[in-house]
Amino acid sequence: MVTEIGRGVYWVGVADWALRQFHGHELSTLRGSTYNAYLIVDERVALVDTVWDPFEDELLAHIREVIDPAKIDVVVATHAEPDHSGSLRAIMREAPQADLVVSRMGVDSLGGHYHQPWKYHVVGTGDSVSLGERDLQFIEARLLHWPDTMFAYLTGDNILFSSDAFGQHYATAFRTNDRADQRELYEEALKYYANILTPFGARVERKIQEILEMNLPITAIAPSHGVIWRENPMQIVERYREWAAQTPERRAIVLYDTMWHATRRMAEAVGEGLAERGVPHKLFHMAVSDRNEVITEIFRSKAVIIGSPTLNRGLLPTITPILEDLRGLGFQHKIGAAFGSYGWSGESTREIEAHLERSHVTKVADGVSVKWQPTEEDLERCRDLGRTVADAVLA
Ligand code: FEO
Repeated sequence: MVTEIGRGVYWVGVADWALRQFHGHELSTLRGSTYNAYLIVDERVALVDTVWDPFEDELLAHIREVIDPAKIDVVVATHAEPDHSGSLRAIMREAPQADLVVSRMGVDSLGGHYHQPWKYHVVGTGDSVSLGERDLQFIEARLLHWPDTMFAYLTGDNILFSSDAFGQHYATAFRTNDRADQRELYEEALKYYANILTPFGARVERKIQEILEMNLPITAIAPSHGVIWRENPMQIVERYREWAAQTPERRAIVLYDTMWHATRRMAEAVGEGLAERGVPHKLFHMAVSDRNEVITEIFRSKAVIIGSPTLNRGLLPTITPILEDLRGLGFQHKIGAAFGSYGWSGESTREIEAHLERSHVTKVADGVSVKWQPTEEDLERCRDLGRTVADAVLA
């Protein structure tokens, strides 16, 4: 449903309640998502972002509820990722005279995606486009999260269109944060940050500083996914600053896979050691867990304890992806340890420790390896591992 979010500013996007996988199958979206596009009707008409192309007819229908799409004068592409640029071809067919406003990097990325002879209007930080009574001002935001990302700020109404920053994969009945379930909203905002923006924390902090120093009044933050932050919009900015600092909570995560339950029993014993010291924690069996939920929990936790049996002198294949995430996402301030069972060769624990070192996770205890099924003595060693990690979490 088209929703007016400011004076002559309309949400004309699409709620995709059924979406469960994003980025191909890289990211789970268990609460769906929205592709937010914003139509601004002033003396000139602007469209900020489009939607993923399977939904282009819905986008056009939503725009037509407000105005003939042929009357669009300015199209802003805040970055070229296809969930927002996918309907550009349809829009530019309807409004071929429109200025297509992009960042410098956007010329390359949009050109590379669509190979169309569009005439780009290239802008950088400090540039603006007049819509008549109001202006759209632009702020480049490289690598938040694409190289071409930029924000747009609507003067007069003081709305910051923040591209993917401050967004959530969260389909909702209503468009604004004050009408969303606050627990779900923050779970999704954190999942989004942890899975997508973790590597860019320093840039997040610098960009927030830059925007604060511009002294722009901000009455709403309108991201490209999820709800619009209208009630106390700076609350999500403050949360982003906290998340960018990556100060972990005093909690732990134990993640493992298992073949014949030996490593599972070890994981549970590690958990008992953590519990004895009163450290909150969760156990995730990676064969049946959502990888992105695990990443979010790693983001929150100070300690990451990983277990795998040895298979073919290495790890079970369900463990390897999360180790790659641990390295690739660049988590900071983490401590960790490893454990695992084996039959005839026992490389898994050492291999996990090597991954932890590569990921700059500080080892706080030697790993525990157990041959065949653990004895009560072995399980006590695992509990001891949990206690040692717990002490480091609480130190
Ligand atoms: Fe939601 Fe970077 O696209």
